[in-house]
Amino acid sequence: MEERRTNRMMKIGIGNDHAAVDMKNEVVEFLKEKGYEVVNFGTDKKESSNYPEYGRKVAEAVAAGEVDLGILICGTGVGISLAANKVKGIRAVVCSEPYSAKLSRQHNNTNVLAFGARVIGIELAKMIIEEWLNAEFMGGRHQDRIDMITEIENENE
Ligand code: RB5
Repeated sequence: MEERRTNRMMKIGIGNDHAAVDMKNEVVEFLKEKGYEVVNFGTDKKESSNYPEYGRKVAEAVAAGEVDLGILICGTGVGISLAANKVKGIRAVVCSEPYSAKLSRQHNNTNVLAFGARVIGIELAKMIIEEWLNAEFMGGRHQDRIDMITEIENENE
């Protein structure tokens, strides 16, 4: 009950390019079934599009607090996560397996998850998402390390 209430309050921004329209739609359904609110910043068309546009939109929404977390999907998850990571305050991780997804939350407090529609299937994507969303940041020495990342970000504005 408690988990469901928390899930209902959480808003997730999703972004994708043309390579990931079908997977995006399945992920949106999955998240809604789990009780998350989803905001779609991605394209719904399969004509060639530019992943930086969607990575940026989701990242800026996360950074501004318009959504709590972001999920990005392109062909590999690489380009769209690179774009997201250029937005101040964003820690985006590309994951093709659940272990790194979970640890990226616990240790690195990632606020954006990315993966590739041409790399993994929908069932693995769901497992990755679940591990990522259910993990909690552990703080302590991990916060110190994130502060060091933020320092690099601040010094390179
Ligand atoms: C598009 O063809 C492809 O380059 C894009 O989806 C992504 O994989 C980039 O990293």
